[in-house]
Amino acid sequence: MNNSPANAVEVRGLHVRRGRTEVFTSLDFDIPRGQITGLMGPSGCGKTTLMRSIVGVQKVAGGTVTVLDDPAGTAAQRRRVAYDTQAASVYGDLTIEQNLRYFARIIGAPRSDVARVIEEVGLGGQARQTVDSLSGGQESRVSLAVAMLGSPQLLVLDEPTVGLDPVLRAELWDVFRGLSGAGATIVVSSHVMDEALRCDRLILMRAGRIIADTTPQGLLTDTGQSDPDAAFLSLIERDVAGSADHRPSTRREAREEAGE
Ligand SMILES: Nc1ncnc2c1ncn2[C@@H]1O[C@H](COP(=O)(O)OP(=O)(O)OP(=O)(O)O)[C@@H](O)[C@H]1O
Ligand SMILES: [Mg+2]
Repeated sequence: MNNSPANAVEVRGLHVRRGRTEVFTSLDFDIPRGQITGLMGPSGCGKTTLMRSIVGVQKVAGGTVTVLDDPAGTAAQRRRVAYDTQAASVYGDLTIEQNLRYFARIIGAPRSDVARVIEEVGLGGQARQTVDSLSGGQESRVSLAVAMLGSPQLLVLDEPTVGLDPVLRAELWDVFRGLSGAGATIVVSSHVMDEALRCDRLILMRAGRIIADTTPQGLLTDTGQSDPDAAFLSLIERDVAGSADHRPSTRREAREEAGE
């Protein structure tokens, strides 16, 4: 199956069930190549499930997910697609450098990548420290570094900046921008709306549906807001008001839905 050369990811009619939850019934969208696409939405709306579907680790009940011209999860994609999960997935009793060397060997990335990615995530000074001795923000940067090994064409990053201070967040966004400038496609989820403004494209989800597929400017223009938090809340409220199955009676209820 070939997708449009303009798209890194094409999702058609995606149906995913997790346990008793129908997470998606029929989801359609594209992710353009070479851009940074932000995936935003209240907790539980399906961001992680969508990312898992893109990297091919999610069992799907129907529909198709095409990634870099092949069905999601094929062996050929393992080196071309990197996934940084929401929970850190590195070894606590190994040092940063040992973790990176280990994962570089597994994916066949050049050994020289190890020092490069450690520098890029700003952990040069801690390379010989065990992961267990790092702060939460440092630990999450180690798994981000793992995702950057081997220069993947598509990076799927699930809340990579959670728990990081604004300076570090800005530095990591410079790294993402650099990767995208070098041709990589990045899909990144976040709860921090100022990060939405750093993306090229934005997919806003609520309750397993895409409620906006837009750009940062489009989000602000469409809602008439200057603040991304207010813009997002306004879209959520609009969607809540329009959904037949659930009509919150108060603005507070809508805010709660938006995870405020
Ligand atoms: N293993 C599971 N069994 C049953 N339901 C699940 C399972 N994993 C996730 N879900 C449900 O699927 C829905 C989507 O979850 P998902 O983790 O994709 O949300 P999310 O948008 O990533 O949330 P967050 O912002 O909190 O990370 C939620 O309703 C969640 O409760
Ligand atoms: Mg999640």
